[in-house]
Amino acid sequence: MTILHKTKSQAETVKLGEKLGKSLKPGSIVALTGNLGAGKTYLTKGIVKGLGLKSAVRSPTFVIMNIYPGKIPVFHFDCYRLKDETDMEKLGYEEYFYGEGITIIEWADRIPGIIPKTAVKVEFRIGKDNVRKISVNVPVKNI
Ligand SMILES: Nc1ncnc2c1ncn2[C@@H]1O[C@H](COP(=O)(O)OP(=O)(O)OP(=O)(O)O)[C@@H](O)[C@H]1O
Ligand SMILES: [Mg+2]
Repeated sequence: MTILHKTKSQAETVKLGEKLGKSLKPGSIVALTGNLGAGKTYLTKGIVKGLGLKSAVRSPTFVIMNIYPGKIPVFHFDCYRLKDETDMEKLGYEEYFYGEGITIIEWADRIPGIIPKTAVKVEFRIGKDNVRKISVNVPVKNI
């Protein structure tokens, strides 16, 4: 099931993230795609807030992944600099993707081969001014 959302500010994108965050469960994976500055990190801030965590969310571009601790920990990946899945394999991504935390992946299109079918897929398109068109696809069997 895909729902298309339209946000008009970074604050609205954070709010959307909060709602999405509240719907996630241990083991959920959220795959984010969209250009530079599309709002992936702001949506992630909202998800983390919605889960009730207090961590400061920053794009983990240079380290590939940040961990935000909590009752349900969040693993925040940024795959912008990756050419393919190899670095994820070196990092032992399975432990995170298939563990009890929640995984959020920016630039998920860099690693299509390892994104599970069960992932919630969020695609960003940049519109005029501050508009972002954000489609959220939840696999039917997850509902
Ligand atoms: N509707 C909106 N939603 C989210 N961000 C917006 C919106 N309108 C404007 N912005 C601005 O766009 C930028 C989005 O930044 P953000 O870091 O979330 O993008 P990103 O997709 O994570 O980029 P990157 O690929 O570089 O990690 C911010 O500067 C934010 O202020
Ligand atoms: Mg980002």
